[in-house]
Amino acid sequence: MPSDVTPKIDPTPNSEKQDIVDRINKAVKNQNRPTVTVLSSLLSIEDELGYIPKEAISIVSEYNKSTINEVWGVASFYPNFRFDPPAKNTVEVCWGPSCHLVGATDVIKSVLDELELDGEGDTADKMATFKFNTCLGACPQAPVMSINHRMYGKVSAKQAKTYISALREDVKGAHK
Ligand code: FES
Repeated sequence: MPSDVTPKIDPTPNSEKQDIVDRINKAVKNQNRPTVTVLSSLLSIEDELGYIPKEAISIVSEYNKSTINEVWGVASFYPNFRFDPPAKNTVEVCWGPSCHLVGATDVIKSVLDELELDGEGDTADKMATFKFNTCLGACPQAPVMSINHRMYGKVSAKQAKTYISALREDVKGAHK
C-alpha cells in the first residue's frame, strides 16, 4: 500500500477556476487570424493569461479537433510556453543585435543583480518574471528594456537598477 494516499487538495477556488476557463475559451474563440491551429490557440492563451493552464490542453484539443497528446506535443515542444502562472510583473531586457552593440550586457547584468536571478525566471518572492527578448521593436532606442510592456529606451545599467527598485517599492506599497 502506498505510504501517502491523502488526496491532493487544489487550493484554487472554483470561481477562479471558472474565470480561467472563461478566459481560455475567449482567447481560443477570438483568434483574429485566417488559419487557426493548435499552435495559434496556445499562443492566444499565453497572450491572454501569461501561461498555459492545464485546463487549456483539453479545450484546445476539442476546439482544433486534435488529441490531447497532439496538443501537449506542441505545447511542450516550444520552450517559450510556461505552465504555471507568471509573477505579478514582467521585466524584459532586449539582447538583440542593436541593443547588444550599445550596452545590453551591462543592462542585463544590472537587472539580474537587482532581481537576484541568474537568468530567465521568477524572483523568489514572485515579484517579477524576467525574460530575455530578441527584439523589443525599438532598435533606434537601444538598449531597450520593458516593465509590464512599458518600454524604456536608451537605458543605462544604473537606470535599469533604479527602475527595478522602483518597481519593488511599488509592489511593497500596494501590499501595505
Ligand atoms: S534589438 Fe533591441 S529593440 Fe531591437
